[in-house]
Amino acid sequence: MSSAAPPAWHAAIVADVDAHLARAVSEMDLPANLAQAVNYALLQGGKRLRPTLVVLSTEAVGARREQALPAAAAIEMIHAFSLVHDDLPAMDDDDLRRGQPTCHVRFGEAMAILAGDALATLPYLHLARCVEDAARRSRLIEELAAATLAMIAGQTLDTLGGFAESLSARQRLELTHRSKTGALIRSACRLGAISGGATESQLAALTAYGESIGLLFQVVDDILDVTQSAEHLGKRSNKDDAAGKLTYPSILGLDESRQLAERLCSQAIEAIEPFGHAADGLIALCRYMAVRTK
Ligand code: IPE
Ligand code: IPE
Ligand code: MG
Ligand code: MG
Ligand code: MG
Repeated sequence: MSSAAPPAWHAAIVADVDAHLARAVSEMDLPANLAQAVNYALLQGGKRLRPTLVVLSTEAVGARREQALPAAAAIEMIHAFSLVHDDLPAMDDDDLRRGQPTCHVRFGEAMAILAGDALATLPYLHLARCVEDAARRSRLIEELAAATLAMIAGQTLDTLGGFAESLSARQRLELTHRSKTGALIRSACRLGAISGGATESQLAALTAYGESIGLLFQVVDDILDVTQSAEHLGKRSNKDDAAGKLTYPSILGLDESRQLAERLCSQAIEAIEPFGHAADGLIALCRYMAVRTK
C-alpha cells in the first residue's frame, strides 16, 4: 500500500541532511545578511526529496549514509537556488513558498538574486572541500554541473520557449519537464550511486529509475497545481494555466496525467529490480512520489 505521507524512515534522513546543510552554510564565509537569506531559502522546510534519493541510492549500492551527505547537501542547495529564482517576478512571480513569503518578498529582489547565486555556487565549494577521493570528487562535480545546466535549459524553455519548430506540443512538454525538473532528480540518483562507488550496471539502473521518477515528479506537480489549494501546498496553485504554461493536465487531461504517473512509477520500480531488498527504500519513495498531495 502506498500512502500520501512519506515513509516513516524519511524523517531520520531529513534530520541528517538538515544538520549537514546547516553546518555547510555556517562554514562558508558569507556576510550576515546574505547568510540569513540563504538559510531562509534552504532550511525552512521542503520535502528534501532530492537528498533523500542521494542517500537511498548510496545505501542501495551497499555504502554508508555519511558517504552520501556531501552530494545530498549539494543537490538540495541547487534545488533551493532553482526555487528562489523560479519565484522571482521575472520568472513565475510567486509570493508563497513552503508556506512562507518567497525569498524576494521577504528580503527584496536584489538579495534573492544574490542568495540564488550563492546557492548555485556553494555546492561546488562544498564538494571540493568534503570529498576526499579525487576521482570521485571530480565525477560528482561534473555530474552536478551538467544537471544544473540542464535544469537551467529547462527553465528557459518553460519561461521563454525556444523549441525546435518541428516539435509537437507533447514533445515540447516532455522536453521541458525532463530538463527543468527531471534532470536534477535523475542526477540525485546518479550522485548517490557515484558517492557509494556503484558499478556501471548499478549506475545505469539507478539512472533509469531517476529518469522515470524525474518526469513523474513534475507530472504530479502539474496535477497538484490544478487539484490542491495554496494552503495545503504552501505555494500558490491554479497558476500554470493562467500563466500559459505547458502542463500535463492541459495537454492530456487529469485522468490521463494520473495514468501516466502510475506508468512512470511502475517503470521506475522495474528499473531497480536487480537490487532486490536493497532498493526497498527507493521503491517506497517512488510510490509516495506518485500519490503525494503536496
Ligand atoms: C518544487 O519542488 C519544484 C519542482 C521542481 C516541481 P519540490 O516539490 O521538491 O519542493 P520542496 O523542496 O518540497 O519545497
Ligand atoms: C519549477 O517548476 C522547476 C524548477 C524550479 C527548476 P514549477 O514552476 O512548476 O515549480 P513550482 O510549482 O513553482 O514549485
Ligand atoms: Mg516555474
Ligand atoms: Mg514556479
Ligand atoms: Mg508547479
